[in-house]
Amino acid sequence: MKAKELAELKKRLAPLPRHVGIIMDGNGRWASARGLPRPMGHRAGTERLRSLIRLSSDLGIEALSLYAFSTENWKRPRVEVETLFAIFMDYFNAEVEALHQNGVRITAMGDLEGLPESVRLSCLRAMEKTRANAGLRLNIALNYGSRAELGRAARLLAKDAASGRLDPASVDEASLQGRLWVADLPDVDLLIRTGGEKRLSNFMLLQLAYAELAFVEDYWPDFSDERYIEALADFAGRSRRFGGLDGE
Ligand code: FPP
Repeated sequence: MKAKELAELKKRLAPLPRHVGIIMDGNGRWASARGLPRPMGHRAGTERLRSLIRLSSDLGIEALSLYAFSTENWKRPRVEVETLFAIFMDYFNAEVEALHQNGVRITAMGDLEGLPESVRLSCLRAMEKTRANAGLRLNIALNYGSRAELGRAARLLAKDAASGRLDPASVDEASLQGRLWVADLPDVDLLIRTGGEKRLSNFMLLQLAYAELAFVEDYWPDFSDERYIEALADFAGRSRRFGGLDGE
C-alpha cells in the first residue's frame, strides 16, 4: 500500500485498537466445502497470516494475538494435530526472517512444555531472534487455554505467598495479571472470531474483559484484508464506556 493510501486508511480507521485478538475458526469447514481434507484448511489459513500481519503492522496496531492451538485441540484426530504442529514449525522456520526484517516481535502464550520438542524449539528460536524488535507484537496462543492460564497464575501467587515473598493481603488484579503467560500486553480491545460461531472458547478471558467483539461469517481462509478493515472500521465507530457513561 502506498504511503498516502495508508495515511488515509489510518485516518478513516481512527481510533485503532491497540491490541487485536483473533480466533481463526473455520479452516476445517473451508476444506470440507471444497472436498479437501481438513488439514488443508489449516494450510490455507496460514496463507492468510502474511498480509494480515503486514497490514496490522503498517497501521500501527501494537499487538495481534492469534489462537493457533488450544488445550482442547488435543481431542482432534492425531493426523490433524500432527499437521498443525508441522504447520507451526514450517511457519516459524520459513517466516521468521521476514517478520524480523519488519520489526515484528514474536511471543507465545500457552504451555509450551506440553508441545513436542521440535515445535517448542522452533517457537523459542523465533522468540529469541525477534525479542529486541519494537514493531508489531505477534503473540501466538499455542497449547493455550484461559482457565489453564488463570490456574497457573493462581498457583504462582500461592507459591509466592507460601514462601513469604508476597503478602496475601496485597494480592490484587495487577499481581494476577503479572503472572499470566505474557504479562506485558495491553488488554485486548477488539476480538474477531471468524467462522460464524459466537463464543469465546476459553481464549484470553481476563484480557477480554472490556473487548469489543466482532463475529464474522467468513471461514478463516476467506477472511480478507477488506473484511479486516471492515471490522476495524466498525470498531472505530463503537462507543466504549468501560462501565462508565458516554464522554467520560
Ligand atoms: C480452527 O478452525 C483453527 C484451528 C484449530 C487452527 C488455527 C491454525 C492456523 C490458522 C494455522 C496457522 C497458525 C499459525 C500461528 C502459524 P477449525 O479447524 O476448528 O475449523 P472448523 O470449525 O471449520 O472445524
